[in-house]
Amino acid sequence: MLPLPSLPDQLVEFRPELGVVLGSGLGFFAEEQLEIVGRIAYTDLDGLPAATVPGHSGQFIYGRMRGRKVICMQGRLHYYEGYSMELLTLPIRLLASLGVSTLVLTNAAGGINPAYRPGDFMLIADHINFLGTNPLIGLSALAGPRFPDMSAVYDPVLRRRIRDWAAEENLSLNEGTYLATTGPSFETPAEIRAFATLGADAVGMSTVPEAIVARQQGMSVVGLSCITNAAAGLSTGPLSHEEVAATADRVREPLVRLLAAALTLAD
Ligand code: HPA
Repeated sequence: MLPLPSLPDQLVEFRPELGVVLGSGLGFFAEEQLEIVGRIAYTDLDGLPAATVPGHSGQFIYGRMRGRKVICMQGRLHYYEGYSMELLTLPIRLLASLGVSTLVLTNAAGGINPAYRPGDFMLIADHINFLGTNPLIGLSALAGPRFPDMSAVYDPVLRRRIRDWAAEENLSLNEGTYLATTGPSFETPAEIRAFATLGADAVGMSTVPEAIVARQQGMSVVGLSCITNAAAGLSTGPLSHEEVAATADRVREPLVRLLAAALTLAD
């Protein structure tokens, strides 16, 4: 089992309560919203690699937001980069060890539900792990329960609070099932049709491993998807990472409000 890297005293003493994983193109949230106390590059922690995907800068940023102590992962590690499931979820164990009790996972996703439009948001109600593996495989019992319950991965109470907040704010918010594939190739239209019959509303290449580990560690989890594009075959034209980043950029302002609300609504 991979050892947890040791962390700077300043961060341990800060004791963040809320964690956020910022997905593709969402890294700006930390710079804009936190009164920043400190930063740590992943490469400064033993055993953690740099994040290599464009739009993912590879550091923890921690500070205060509306009086809450928050730590953001600016840039996540993905399975398609070749990291093991254990390594890419190690930062989640680190957050748990720091005392983070609520984790908000964000991502960019392709919309499968025909009602979804690029620029929409989806609160993740549940997920389908289509990765063909599981981040808990091979971990010793010391890492936590071997067979953690997954019947309510995405905290129902927090979801209700976020839905109520969005309704009051007139911010349109879908709620649905996120399906995780390994990537890095986008899906084929046939795969998207198959995922639709499985009950998926959106598809992406992240979030599920982190959510599983966070639940195993006893954290409350919230998942927020930004629907950056219609999934393959549901609109004309090819999919591209540029389109994903451009849509995330276009909805910056409401996304920041939604994410900030999700954090302040946590216990
Ligand atoms: N498929 C998979 N991952 C994604 C997509 C998609 O269409 N859009 C953003 N991330």
